[in-house]
Amino acid sequence: RGRAAAVQVRSSAMAAATPILDDLRLRCATPLPLLRHVADAMAADMRAGLAVDGAGELKMIPSYVYSLPTGDETGLFYALDLGGTNFRVLRVQLGGKDRRVIDSESEQVSIPKEIMHGTTEELFNFIAARLSNFVAKEGGNFRLQKGRKREIGFTFSFPVKQTSIDSGILIKWTKGFAVSGTAGRDVVACLNAAMERQGLDMLVSALVNDTVGTLAGAHYWDEDVMVAVILGTGTNACYIEKNDFIPKLLHLGPVTGNTIINTEWGAFSDGLPLTEFDRDMDAESINPGEQIFEKTISGMYLGEIVRRVLAKMAQEHDLFGHSFADKLAQPFVLRTPHLCAMQQDRSNDLGEVELILRDVIGVKESSLAERRAIVDVSDCIVKRGGRLAGAGIAGILQKMESDSNGQVLGRRTAVAMDGGLYENYPQYRSYMTEAMVELFGPQDSEHVVVEHTKDGSGIGAALLAAANSKYAAQSST
Ligand code: GLC
Repeated sequence: RGRAAAVQVRSSAMAAATPILDDLRLRCATPLPLLRHVADAMAADMRAGLAVDGAGELKMIPSYVYSLPTGDETGLFYALDLGGTNFRVLRVQLGGKDRRVIDSESEQVSIPKEIMHGTTEELFNFIAARLSNFVAKEGGNFRLQKGRKREIGFTFSFPVKQTSIDSGILIKWTKGFAVSGTAGRDVVACLNAAMERQGLDMLVSALVNDTVGTLAGAHYWDEDVMVAVILGTGTNACYIEKNDFIPKLLHLGPVTGNTIINTEWGAFSDGLPLTEFDRDMDAESINPGEQIFEKTISGMYLGEIVRRVLAKMAQEHDLFGHSFADKLAQPFVLRTPHLCAMQQDRSNDLGEVELILRDVIGVKESSLAERRAIVDVSDCIVKRGGRLAGAGIAGILQKMESDSNGQVLGRRTAVAMDGGLYENYPQYRSYMTEAMVELFGPQDSEHVVVEHTKDGSGIGAALLAAANSKYAAQSST
């Protein structure tokens, strides 16, 4: 009887919490006019950032990548990838047009929290030590050409003011990194110094953002790739721009050809449908007021937004009765992969949802209605994220289309995509695609192909190191 009474109370708590869900749906809605506004504002902000540094929210950083790998690249190259929770090292033996990638090997290490919050020297020592271990295991099909040093493409996925293809200054950390003393410094110089301390004699030939690496890696196989997008821990996009559409580079004299532009679109915020949960999360983040688009659509944050909604439902309306531990009050305990697992639960009793609630946020007992409500909250936040990501991509393509008199949407155009959020979250992916179809209409959207380029940024960085090899002037064998 006690149990029946408890369930009774809980179902009325659920009813009381429903307005929070209704309100959330209303505030997170992304109807077509809103998506249009976001796409237009993204395109307008791109133009502002290309005209003058700092004129818009998007930094529109020229990558100094003027030519993409052609396929002719040969030899042994390395790549380092630092950008999220993991750090990767990779080696690749390139065999030119016919043989392409003869062999590749990689290793991944997760970055300890103390390193993410430590000093610059600690971070770069950690990287150089891992690299050194990895290089020591070189063998098999991998062969360095005589008289050369090993060359590296360094994928560094944070906003960097690029000063040449192989140097760039960190503007600020994002995605939860808070390493002291790096902002304002050349990250290649930091890496070189750490390699020297390790006694490792290698050359950094290209410094690239992960989006740029992904574009180069995908373009190597498919020349229709014009845009690359990362939807993972963080989010960003880059694309191929005509140099005469980059007014801020005109002082360099007449420019022809193309450059990849790293948009740093994570900083965008114009017209986004935000809630009190987003605002509170932002205010308590390590970079308040910054990266608002990233905080609304990327993997690091979706789980945390949902946790905040649940915490309010639990506090104000007794959702879960008193059966939850203080865990729900702990920032970032609920992660985006948990949302994803809950949304895949097709069972009648939502058993998987129950398990996650118990193991992750310490809810000892939940009713079916409560479990359903949690899936609905997740869906609401994920839908907003996916649809806004779609609007962002549409904004980039729209800008390219209008500058090329219809040459982008009138033919096959590929968008290379990487990142765990895109890769692992089917609902997110379909919301994204759905928004693009709504914005472009069924006909034009047929021409836009979104290609998953798994780990393309590693190979891409190695390819860019090869394309920008310090030995390029010498023979290529
Ligand atoms: C963050 C970084 C950006 C990177 C993106 C995806 O937004 O600022 O440089 O490309 O995350 O990893």
